[in-house]
Amino acid sequence: MARKPWTAIVAGVAGLLLLTACGGGGGTSGGGALTLGFAQVGAESGWRTANTKSIQESAKAAGIELKFSDAQQKQENQIAAIRSYIQQKVKVIAFSPVVESGWDTVLKEAKTANIPVILTDRAVDSADKTLYKTFLGSDFVAEGKKAGEWLAKEFGSATGDVSIVELQGTTGSAPANDRKKGFADVIASNPKFKVVASQTGEFTRAKGKEVMEAFLKSQPKIDVLYAHNDDMALGAIEAIEAAGKVPGKDIKIVSVDGVRDALQALADGKINHVVECNPLLGPQLMDLVKKVAAGEQVPPRIETTETEFDQAAAKAALPQRQY
Ligand code: AHR
Repeated sequence: MARKPWTAIVAGVAGLLLLTACGGGGGTSGGGALTLGFAQVGAESGWRTANTKSIQESAKAAGIELKFSDAQQKQENQIAAIRSYIQQKVKVIAFSPVVESGWDTVLKEAKTANIPVILTDRAVDSADKTLYKTFLGSDFVAEGKKAGEWLAKEFGSATGDVSIVELQGTTGSAPANDRKKGFADVIASNPKFKVVASQTGEFTRAKGKEVMEAFLKSQPKIDVLYAHNDDMALGAIEAIEAAGKVPGKDIKIVSVDGVRDALQALADGKINHVVECNPLLGPQLMDLVKKVAAGEQVPPRIETTETEFDQAAAKAALPQRQY
């Protein structure tokens, strides 16, 4: 007897579900590829663009199936992406947390589902360190200290107060918290260093420009700009020039990252010092993904090696700079 059409549809759907369960179970799909769900912060900066490219290219080279999402700098979007990866039963989840706090619930959900989590670039402040396998990224406090040490040296012989304005990164993010702290710890040793204004520029060029415009209007004297990333420094340069001042001379600038545009500005004398933060985390991340997927032990924290650039170093690095 011929099947009724609806019976055939139900049988077809059931078969499809079974196939999906077989193919997707244990975090594999498409014939057994290792699946990684990656929840990215956004596309706020040149650094981030380079980081995303490194992750996508390295996953491809390593034969890892990458499910990628862009949270547009919103924690709720990242939490939704992680929940979706848990539902899809990916083998490993990695993410760069927008902010440090508020992750315990979703991390517990991943742990309950037996999906290992790797933190990349930014850390979380969870007291329970078993909620993630490892952290791969930079020492942001050390980066802030390097910026402060450059300033202390540059203005070592200055008499009178040195007025500093600070463009902070995304409020509540690890790099904003830590770069602020590292810098403050160093300059605290000399009372002539005064941070006269400090506000978030959200790690973007547009906001860096907007906030610097406000600083220039409200502050009678600005000697130094400390920007938590290059994009904000580059936006601020536009504001400084529009105000009729010379960046790098009237207002000295120190920033963090080391993207090509900032190294060019340093070579051109518009920025005075750049502390490097390495975005090329993809290859190391893929190694870690393979290890945790195989149940291997990994170190709890892996820090990237980074340098600093003065004008000569920027000129030397520019021809080979990948990002
Ligand atoms: O978390 C790293 C920081 O995030 C980079 O310094 C900045 O450019 C990015 O947006």
